[in-house]
Amino acid sequence: MSPMFVPGPVDVAPEVLAAQAKPMLPHRSKEFEAMFKRTEERLKQVFFTQNRLFQATASGSGMQEAGMRNFVQKTVLCCVNGAFADRWFAVASTNGKEADKLAVPWGEVILPDMLADALKKKHYEAVAIVHNETSTGAENPVKELAEVVHQVSPDTLVMVDAVSSLGGVKIDMDAWGLDFLLTSSQKCLALPPGMSFAAVSDRAMKKAESVENRGWYFDLLLMDKHRIKDSTPMTPAMALIFALDVQLDRILAEGLENRFARHSAMALKTQEWAVARGMEPLAHNPYRSKTVSTIHNSKGMDISALNKSLLTHGIRIANGYGELKDKTFRIAHMGEIQMKDLETLLAYMDEFLKI
Ligand SMILES: Cc1ncc(COP(=O)(O)O)c(C=O)c1O
Repeated sequence: MSPMFVPGPVDVAPEVLAAQAKPMLPHRSKEFEAMFKRTEERLKQVFFTQNRLFQATASGSGMQEAGMRNFVQKTVLCCVNGAFADRWFAVASTNGKEADKLAVPWGEVILPDMLADALKKKHYEAVAIVHNETSTGAENPVKELAEVVHQVSPDTLVMVDAVSSLGGVKIDMDAWGLDFLLTSSQKCLALPPGMSFAAVSDRAMKKAESVENRGWYFDLLLMDKHRIKDSTPMTPAMALIFALDVQLDRILAEGLENRFARHSAMALKTQEWAVARGMEPLAHNPYRSKTVSTIHNSKGMDISALNKSLLTHGIRIANGYGELKDKTFRIAHMGEIQMKDLETLLAYMDEFLKI
């Protein structure tokens, strides 16, 4: 592996990549069904849930769309503090939903009081929150936000995008009372891109029954009919499920708590490194992401030149996202990245900075 410090697609372990080369199976076969059941059962452990778990042949944006189409007939409040939360808002609006934004500047987070105020002003069928905003490296306090929703507007569903954090940070779905929790394959789960996963509460499934125009591909009620028979309505991304089957064993062998501790330690290391060099992370404590650090480019580094130099060692980081390009840079420390990989990167960056 040549560690890529970009927030997806990330490096994939050789044995996981190799699993994709196995001969295909018919998806209406006992062998496939057994594997599909195994992957669902172990994914539920990573999601900290007893809820049903869907495996879709689509990237995370597809699951964002599934959430809006299945659980919102009309009104949804989108908490927006970065590019991917803004995308979810766009997904809602372009699907014809009456979506309102609760927005704060990029780098900041949505605080429980802000959400409580918004929910007191208007009733919403659902609230959409991005747990870890990959564009800014800010982590929304989802547990506290969900608590506020339950207190102020108990029938409002809580939908959470954890595309760039699930598998690297503990998200206690059932304990926090989340209704829809989604992630993509190509981030902290360290799989190739192309799949997304989502767990759904009973009350959200009940709500879906009354929602019109759920469409076909992302109709979770239809998917559930097949899921209970350990299959999918359409042809699944078989090779990716072979990879998932192997990767879930690796993830659970590391131990979830160890995995979360590894991600936190690497986040802290990155932040300390940056601060010691006069470059502050964009997000403030305690809301800094554990999986991707977005750092002010206060030294005015030429990020393209930096990456050119890093690529001579087979590694790279990510530039800032959108308007934050060149003003910030992002170091992802997720998936297969180990502390020693990060230390190597930071040493090369010091060389570039001539420290
Ligand atoms: C937080 C977040 N949500 C959604 C997405 C979209 O996911 P995908 O690219 O898998 O469609 C991304 C992608 O980077 C993301 O970081």
